[in-house]
Formats: sequence, C-alpha cells, structure tokens
Amino acid sequence: MKPAASNASASVLAQLFEPIRDDLREVEREFARHVQSQIAVIPAIGNYVKDGGGKRIRPAVLLMAARLAGYTGERAVLYASVVEFIHSATLVHDDIIDEAEMRRGREAAHTRWGNHLTVLFGDFLYLKSMSLALTQDDLEIIRLLCDVTLRIVEGEIYQLTKNGVTDLSEEEHFDIIRRKTAYLFAGCARIGSMLGPTTREQQEALWEYGFSIGMAFQLVDDLLDFTGDEIVLGKPVGGDLREGKMTLPVIHLLAHGDGEARALIGSIVGERRATMEEWRQLRALLAQTRSIDYAHRTAMEFVERAKRALYVFPPSAAREALLFLPDYVVSRDR
Ligand code: IPE
Ligand code: IPE
Ligand code: MG
Ligand code: MG
Repeated sequence: MKPAASNASASVLAQLFEPIRDDLREVEREFARHVQSQIAVIPAIGNYVKDGGGKRIRPAVLLMAARLAGYTGERAVLYASVVEFIHSATLVHDDIIDEAEMRRGREAAHTRWGNHLTVLFGDFLYLKSMSLALTQDDLEIIRLLCDVTLRIVEGEIYQLTKNGVTDLSEEEHFDIIRRKTAYLFAGCARIGSMLGPTTREQQEALWEYGFSIGMAFQLVDDLLDFTGDEIVLGKPVGGDLREGKMTLPVIHLLAHGDGEARALIGSIVGERRATMEEWRQLRALLAQTRSIDYAHRTAMEFVERAKRALYVFPPSAAREALLFLPDYVVSRDR
C-alpha cells in the first residue's frame, strides 16, 4: 500500500483548517518537542507517528471551538497538542489489539518496533498528555481530559469483550462508539469553549457538538471499512468484520437479512477471514437491505445534531467554520 493519495477530501480539509493553519503548525512543533527523550527510541517512534499524515481533526475542533469562544491566547495550542497525544496513544494501542499492520498508508508503529516497545510508547504518550495538561493549573480541564480518556479505554475494553458476538445490539454498539470515539471529540470542543468567556449553556452546546461529530465520524469510519479505498484510507478495508467487530451496517443486515446473511457473517467472523466471493456476497446483501444507507442516514442525524447545537452562539466566522466540519466528516474518503 502506498502513502495516502492526495484526494478531494484532503483539500476540503486544508481549506476548512485554513483559519487555524498557524496554530496547527504550532501543534506539530509541540508534538515533536514533547516526544524528546534521552531514550532514543522514544523520539524515533514519536516522530514517525507525528509524520504519518494524521488529519489532526481533534486539535482542529479544539482550536476552532476556542476561536468561537473568543479566545486567542496560547493555551489552545497546548491543549490541542494534549488531545492529539491522547488520540495517538489510542491509535498505537488500537493497532496492536486489532492486529492491523498498516496505518496512514504505511507500517503501523508496532509493525516496525514490535508490540512491547509500542505498548510502552503508548503509555508514554498517555502520561505525557497529562503532564502537559498539568503545566496549566486548570483542574476542571484536567478532570475532563482524564474522564474522556478513561471512557476511551473503557470503550476499547468493552469492545473486546464483545468481539465476535454476532448478536450485538445497536444500543451496545452505540455504547462502544460513544466511549471509544465520541467523548474525546466532545471533550475537544468543550475544552476550546472553556478557554473563553462562555456560559455553561454554551459549553454544554459545544460538548453536544463535539459528541455528535464524533459519533458521525466513527459511523463513517465503520462505513468506509465496507465502501472505502485502501490506498486513500491508508488502512485495510474489510478489517472490522474479520477482526470480529460488529458495526452498524452489519447489525442492520443481521436484523433485516435472512438466513443467508446470518450464515455468511457467522462464517466470516468464525474463520476470521473472507474470500473474494464471500466479500462480494456480503456487499450485495448490504446493498439489498440498504444497510449502508441506514448507517449513512444515522451519521447524518448526528451531523444535524452537531449543527443545531451551535445555534446558541450568534453568527460569526468561527461559527461558520464549525458548521462546515460535520459535512466534511460524512463526505470524507479518508
Ligand atoms: C482514526 O481516527 C480512529 C477513529 C476514531 C476512527 P482518525 O481518522 O482521525 O485518524 P488520523 O489521526 O487522521 O490518522
Ligand atoms: C478507533 O476504532 C477507536 C480508537 C482508536 C479508540 P477503530 O479500530 O475502528 O479505528 P481504526 O479503524 O483502526 O482507525
Ligand atoms: Mg482499529
Ligand atoms: Mg475502523
């Protein structure tokens, strides 16, 4: 697999992030600065992860929310780096758990450095994120960061306990994606809002905004696992079901398909592999039962929820920028 190709959604993203471009550049610098260590392998893995071409959506949400809150100081970049550290820690651990060899169009960190070093590097990032946040004496933000990070870990643990469980309910699935993805987005938006002179109602609105974007983001990530292009995505497609992970399209197919769908899914999950023919059959069944459409519609509901949340703020360029982000999230191809 080659590095992620340049594509339409990448340029949409560059345009969306234009107003915060300088801040995002600072986030890159902070990232490099804080993976410095006398233990040479730490900056080696750290810079490799930093240079992998991640989209930086979480720091961007935080920075844009801070703008909306009228904040222009330096703490936004610091917290934006903190959330990218947390996100990076979850990814390096997640790829070990999922046995995913590729990330961002190239070898995942554990493929290169092995599981032992990569687990410890993930621990380093988690702790680094908290020590960075602790340089500011804002206990409310630190509490929030701990809370959303704990929910990610709970989400990943809960997901593991449901691995291969083909009768996973939609509610159980939603509980997983809320925890593993949506709360961190919610925290990003809320922290941004907490930096400026905002009311509690406005902070809660931004939490709701980030939460809804996060839900849409994960639903689309799961959808792209069936419809996406490996080169553009930079990670394998079809992996979720082979890994025993039930996502919304499959849950919908199981509820609306017949015995053939159940047998096929049971076989792929049981064998932990899908032949080309099984994969073709699965995609045909998903189309027949409109299961991809259903997951897409569900993501769209969260897009609307995200936008609605912003209307407690008066119109501004910052609000306009945040209103565009949910549409990007559902139209993205990587
Ligand atoms: C991947 O997140 C993990 C999910 C929550 C689906 P991103 O798609 O934001 O990852 P990068 O940082 O851009 O690679
Ligand atoms: C990502 O879940 C969530 C976290 C990293 C916590 P996935 O397993 O779906 O993410 P990808 O598909 O590997 O990026
Ligand atoms: Mg994964
Ligand atoms: Mg995924």
